[in-house]
Amino acid sequence: MTQADTDLRDAARAVRENAYAPYSRFKVGAALRTPSGRVFSGCNVENVAYPEGTCAEAGAIAAMVAAGETRIAAAYVVADSSAPVPPCGGCRQKIAEFADPDVVVTLATTAGTETSLRVAELLPGAFGAGHMEGA
Ligand code: THU
Repeated sequence: MTQADTDLRDAARAVRENAYAPYSRFKVGAALRTPSGRVFSGCNVENVAYPEGTCAEAGAIAAMVAAGETRIAAAYVVADSSAPVPPCGGCRQKIAEFADPDVVVTLATTAGTETSLRVAELLPGAFGAGHMEGA
């Protein structure tokens, strides 16, 4: 594991501690590295009006965009789950907006089990701008 990958994992693990998940009690942390080497992180933020909750991935993406960056070079998602946590469908689409198909997304448990997938594997057949040509 490179130092950059260790840093990405540590950022996701650290931000997960701040997750606000009183309803599901399922804390998730996500970290993104951009081509410039900066790391942005986010955690899930639930709400008593359940659909208003946001995922960890969405928080990390919002932090990246707010900082003026729009490309993801690598991503790491971690939860205290029995198997590496798979991002929800909406987050797969959100990641695909900012990442090339070959970007690696690592899904992990707090115990250390990791699965790495490329964006193209996370969201096969992704809807993209090309599908609107001719509209
Ligand atoms: N959750 C995430 O934040 N990311 C994922 O990849 C999966 C699910 C959150 C949403 C909700 O707060 C809790 O986990 C249970 O679904």
